[in-house]
Amino acid sequence: MENKNLIDLEVMTPQQIDKIIKKAQKIMKNPSDYRHSCDSKILATLFYEPSTRTQMSFQTAMLKLGGRTIGFDNPMNSSVSKGESLKDTITIIGGYADIIAIRHPIEGSATAASLYAGVPVINCGDGGHLHPTQTLTDIVTLSCEKGKLDNLKIGVCGDLLNGRTVHSLIKTLAKYKNNSFVLISTKELSIPLYIIDILEKNNCKYEFSDNLAESIGGLDVLYMTRIQRERFASEAEYEAQKNVFVLDKEKLAAAKDDMIILHPLPRNNEITVDIDDDPRALYFKQAQYGMYGRMALILLLLQDDEFFIDNRETTVSEHKCSNPKCITQQEDYLPNLSYEKKGMVMCDFCDKRMD
Ligand code: CP
Repeated sequence: MENKNLIDLEVMTPQQIDKIIKKAQKIMKNPSDYRHSCDSKILATLFYEPSTRTQMSFQTAMLKLGGRTIGFDNPMNSSVSKGESLKDTITIIGGYADIIAIRHPIEGSATAASLYAGVPVINCGDGGHLHPTQTLTDIVTLSCEKGKLDNLKIGVCGDLLNGRTVHSLIKTLAKYKNNSFVLISTKELSIPLYIIDILEKNNCKYEFSDNLAESIGGLDVLYMTRIQRERFASEAEYEAQKNVFVLDKEKLAAAKDDMIILHPLPRNNEITVDIDDDPRALYFKQAQYGMYGRMALILLLLQDDEFFIDNRETTVSEHKCSNPKCITQQEDYLPNLSYEKKGMVMCDFCDKRMD
């Protein structure tokens, strides 16, 4: 089965990912060649959660391609505030727009939207689950700045439990040859086990660290992340975690000259502002690369008849997913879609085990 939704980069082959990167690089070289590519097309940006970069870079991407945008950035200003279901909202918007970019606080919501849209759906972040177009941003940046996506030692630091950008990035880079990972976090915010499974399945080397200063020396890439305050059960738990890892000039002194520093942004205190002028600090440039990656993605999804993304095989399970953060817990009309992994039954929406 093939589709035109971007829910999870994991189901894409390196060749498909390479096609997006190459297209983004072509657009970067001659952006004016593409200014009428999406004339008369409409992108809907449905942001049920706050965003600066993802929402505006998608809107800018469509405008630069000659298309137009509709949408909301606060669901309380839409009929969601009157209790409209995700299914009904998406069904309606799918009749207005040619492509939908959605961010939602609940895991699996982009997959749910894709069942009813009738037009391509792009996952712009679903709860603490995935954020594939951030990963697209990250890999376009790596391709342009490092010239490769393989043979890299990547340190990921911060909130590895709730940071959906980290999950998507590791899942994608694990597919490329000889990448290794240093997972720098507190015990409480360590990476979910399903990501470790993916690293093992791909024979990637990985190590755990709770000390950024000690781990920074051998890295090619340091990917810093924000502690995701909005995902904590209590303020006290957040307070205990914030500011544990701060990249400052003193720690950076031990890094390689060609290590690059990435961050999906927004930042809180995890990178001190005096690092912004260091040539290794690429996080603002990274956000610009993201816009070109999103232009490439829109073009391929709308205009390239050969650009399909593989669907995994699913079946309807007898049981509902028990993950309290899964969209199936909120929107009870959704089918109990599941897939099999290593003999286990997994929820197709949130990727948590169902059996
Ligand atoms: N990186 C990222 O997703 O930023 P926004 O939340 O501002 O979209």
